[in-house]
Amino acid sequence: MKKLFPLLIITSLMLIGCQSQSKVRVIKLAHALDVSHSVHKAMVFMAERLAEKSKGKMRIDIYPSEQLGAERELIELLQIGSLAMTKVSASPLEGFVPEMKIFSIPYVFRDEDHLWQILKGDIGKRLLLAGQKYYLRGMCYYDAGSRSFYTKEIPIRRPEDLSGLKIRVQKSPTSVRMIQTLGGSATPIAFGELYTALQQGVVDGAENNPPSFYLTRHYEVCKYYSLDQHTSVPDIVLMSTVVWESLTPQEQQWLQEAVDESVDHQRQLWKESEAEAMAAVQKAGVEVIYPDKKPFREAVKPMHESYRGTSVYDLLMEIQTIE
Ligand code: GCU
Repeated sequence: MKKLFPLLIITSLMLIGCQSQSKVRVIKLAHALDVSHSVHKAMVFMAERLAEKSKGKMRIDIYPSEQLGAERELIELLQIGSLAMTKVSASPLEGFVPEMKIFSIPYVFRDEDHLWQILKGDIGKRLLLAGQKYYLRGMCYYDAGSRSFYTKEIPIRRPEDLSGLKIRVQKSPTSVRMIQTLGGSATPIAFGELYTALQQGVVDGAENNPPSFYLTRHYEVCKYYSLDQHTSVPDIVLMSTVVWESLTPQEQQWLQEAVDESVDHQRQLWKESEAEAMAAVQKAGVEVIYPDKKPFREAVKPMHESYRGTSVYDLLMEIQTIE
């Protein structure tokens, strides 16, 4: 017995260790962006807040940079519950939650204040929950600024300049329609494959916000950045409803609070990274063009009109009435 005693102590300590470890609720989160992106940093902050609130009972493990797949695949993993959380652009989400296409229609929002008024208000909340029936629960919006064209050889000063150009878009039919309406030809390509596609001339250009243009180093290949700001597609933190419903009400509360607290942090980081990106690409020799937006707005009017009689048009109208 004397010999057995220390062994018993060690075994019981090991068991206690396992028990307390298995009590930690681990939330697996994967996304497509680089670790230097404001989205990733805000999610690290979110994970810290959650650990603090739950006193270590909950933990978020983050897998960045498309390690577990591109945005479409990550959404699918959420639907079957093999991944708990992700952050995607609202554009590829339209393939799963049709209401989300509103964000990929060009020139819907008057300016940034208008966009955030919508996101934080009833419409934004409604849209976040619209995915629930598809097993996708929107947790919050992150700032992704506005998207503009960048090209290799032909600077975009007017919509006509897009004529005949192959432009990469996200996997979103509405983004494809936007490029077609403006006279270009759209090629959906995963974000992580775009650098090579640009380099090899598979496409002549793409469109994105300044931090993504900069952090992906696409500016090494594309020397013209035309700030036409055609869309303001927010990023969305999504959760699998399968996983969400498996949490206790207390765990849900901690998690939602941690998510909400990360929003202001991300928006602050976003502002800084947008300015930093614009300065850096110009320093690297990119010509920044400020085109007159009026001809672009005019050119996409038929696209807006084409939704008449559908729920998208009703939503477009509702958005216009918000001051
Ligand atoms: C934005 C967005 C990403 C998305 C990317 C894209 O940068 O934040 O989530 O992957 O656009 O164009 O694919």
